[in-house]
Amino acid sequence: MPQIDVYDSPDLLAASAGELFFELAHRAIRETGTFSALLSGGTTPRAVYRWLAEHGDMLDWHRVRLFFGDERCVPPGHPDSNYRMVRESMLDVLDNLGVTTYRIPAEYPPEEASSRYETLLRSLFDGTPVFDLVLLGLGADAHTASLFPGTTAIHEEQAWVLAHYIESVAAWRITVTPPLLNNARVVAFIVSGESKSAAVDAVLHGGRAVDIYPAQIIQPVRGDLRWLLDKDAAKLILSG
Ligand code: 6PG
Repeated sequence: MPQIDVYDSPDLLAASAGELFFELAHRAIRETGTFSALLSGGTTPRAVYRWLAEHGDMLDWHRVRLFFGDERCVPPGHPDSNYRMVRESMLDVLDNLGVTTYRIPAEYPPEEASSRYETLLRSLFDGTPVFDLVLLGLGADAHTASLFPGTTAIHEEQAWVLAHYIESVAAWRITVTPPLLNNARVVAFIVSGESKSAAVDAVLHGGRAVDIYPAQIIQPVRGDLRWLLDKDAAKLILSG
């Protein structure tokens, strides 16, 4: 069963997610010498990344490797780029602290970008990567990363990274796949706002229907599953 924590405000949610990041980073660095985290895109985690940058002196960033769970098919400086969001909210502050960031090269055509990222991952990890932390967001349609409802990527069992066209957003996206996401030591959903409350309730309390609620495919094989919610996002599961 996932651990579900509800916080009174988006700021408290962001700080708690940041503290979890540091807790897992210190543990991984103590045990293995490095901390590998897969970052979520979108807007919700921006506050988490800002909090990490503000408290950056709490971590030896030389031992930290950051990866991305998905990317829009735009150059890294494009306003829609998840990498740009992370750079502006965190990396620009941390750059002189030695963090290593592996962005998805979405300036290439989608299939090539996906293939390049998978090749990079295979060069960095022996076997399926075990991320110490995977941060995920949740769309109002219950998508996560870029695993959108009705897409075959939800059921991918071989590839680690895929590119696909998403009708609902009329855009190509690159996403890591469930085999990678579910191999993590800890997967943490960070969800804020009443607009997500129905999706949270459906994913956690609805019947299993991964093609409709893709976030349900996230079931860590050996790791822990965490949901960090603010009270608006938790509104329906609290009232049930
Ligand atoms: C993206 C994200 C995506 C995001 C959800 C929630 O590229 O947009 O990876 O999965 O986490 O869409 O987005 P918000 O946090 O902006 O609501």
